[in-house]
Amino acid sequence: MPVTRRDLLTAAAAVGASGVAVTALYGSGRSAFAGAARFQRPLAIPPLLQGEVRDGVRRFDLTLQRGQREFLDGMQTPTAGINGAFLGPVIRVRRGEQVRLDVANRLGEASTLHWHGVHLPAKMDGGPHQVIEAGATWSPRFRIRQPASTQWYHSHLFHRTGVQVYYGLAGLFYIDDDQGDALGLPSDHGVDDIPLVLQDRSFARDGSFRYLTSMHDRMLGMTGDVMLVNGVVLPFLRVRRRLTRFRILNGSNARIYNLAFSDGRRFLQIASDGGLLPRPVPLTSVRLSPGERAEILLEMTPEDDLQLVHVPPPARRARGGGMMGMMQGMMRSDDQPFSIMRLIGSGLEDAGTRPPRRLVEVPAWSEDEAVKTRRFVLEMGMGMMGGGGFRINGRAMDMNRIDETVRLGAVEIWEIVNRSPMAHPFHIHDIQFRILDRDGRPPPAGEQGLKDTVLVEPQETVRVITRFEHYADADSPYMFHCHILEHEDAGMMGQFVVVA
Ligand code: C2O
Ligand code: CU
Ligand code: CU
Repeated sequence: MPVTRRDLLTAAAAVGASGVAVTALYGSGRSAFAGAARFQRPLAIPPLLQGEVRDGVRRFDLTLQRGQREFLDGMQTPTAGINGAFLGPVIRVRRGEQVRLDVANRLGEASTLHWHGVHLPAKMDGGPHQVIEAGATWSPRFRIRQPASTQWYHSHLFHRTGVQVYYGLAGLFYIDDDQGDALGLPSDHGVDDIPLVLQDRSFARDGSFRYLTSMHDRMLGMTGDVMLVNGVVLPFLRVRRRLTRFRILNGSNARIYNLAFSDGRRFLQIASDGGLLPRPVPLTSVRLSPGERAEILLEMTPEDDLQLVHVPPPARRARGGGMMGMMQGMMRSDDQPFSIMRLIGSGLEDAGTRPPRRLVEVPAWSEDEAVKTRRFVLEMGMGMMGGGGFRINGRAMDMNRIDETVRLGAVEIWEIVNRSPMAHPFHIHDIQFRILDRDGRPPPAGEQGLKDTVLVEPQETVRVITRFEHYADADSPYMFHCHILEHEDAGMMGQFVVVA
């Protein structure tokens, strides 16, 4: 097993006020990069894109393009982005609206753009079948039929999703609705409603991204030793309001974050992937695997000077005994603490906004309604290091094979079984689900809302439930897959159709 945990991150430890060890995410032996200046650059806020309503349709113009960006002082990194050099704008739509997005591909290579978390017809999904050839424009059109939430979009080209997202083809997609508006949550974009797209990157000596250069990267997924937030290395933010809402996306290819503040303070989680929770959930840390989102409310005072940090989650008892337990330890990439950004309170104002006590009613489906239970076994095929080992139910992704056929309107339970020594974030297109249980136990409060991605621990079984509604198309599949993009690209993905 040529995978070691030593080469993941090296730590220069500092200790936070409450004794939480905080380390910078500094250069490891595998990257030429020796350490970026911490908290020297302000957090960038991606622009809002509201589009333009014509004939009752809200229209957006998006261009996939190449560019370059100075992430590290004095070095230009070749990148890709949407309407810009790296990442894309925040697309903002409203429930009930008809939306059309014209996606022009100026990358010089094929791509796709997938609307992650959005409920829509499979043909509009932007998955591996909706390829946008170089120079072409793709114009999906669909109605927004789901509650206020923070969704996102990213490339989904089969075998190339990992590298295209790594270079920057991703952005946020906000859905608003009346119910959400009525709660009086902080909602002034860039002022008290702040998106945080978390991504780790590895750089080569010449400043270019270093992507997938080792077997380690292929097996565990691509992790890096430099933290970016909204495309800025270890930024700082001068917080403007006493109460701030952060919409956090784990936009990393493979890294799992357990987010906390350096003084260990409490915050409120108000939303998960699919929208608002029934009520704010007080937490001191929130875990986000690739693809997952959380919205939180953070209260600060002018005296505060904090860091958003990753702290290793409490070690889960290894399952399955000796060898299996040892491998589970070696295959974690989240066992070292590090800083992500600095939050400065001096100068903030109290706008009088207070967290609501209740939020929204979240749809639930009961087990009795379920007409079918499907089982998905995740395997890594250890010992077959040359690839082909990433499978679901023993099979690697085949664009020409439909794995599951779901009846329109059916409530189903999907049981995800992880038979591998590392955790996998399992994602389902088209729908939002509820987590029924983890190894038979109900999920924590922060996971009791709508979800489209769920982290399944080594040897764990997670059951989720949902209804497949509105859209049926026997010829266009949706995907389900591991959201570690290198696993997805290597075949840990399958296809389902919804039929009338
Ligand atoms: Cu975020 Cu199939 O993906
Ligand atoms: Cu998706
Ligand atoms: Cu995986």
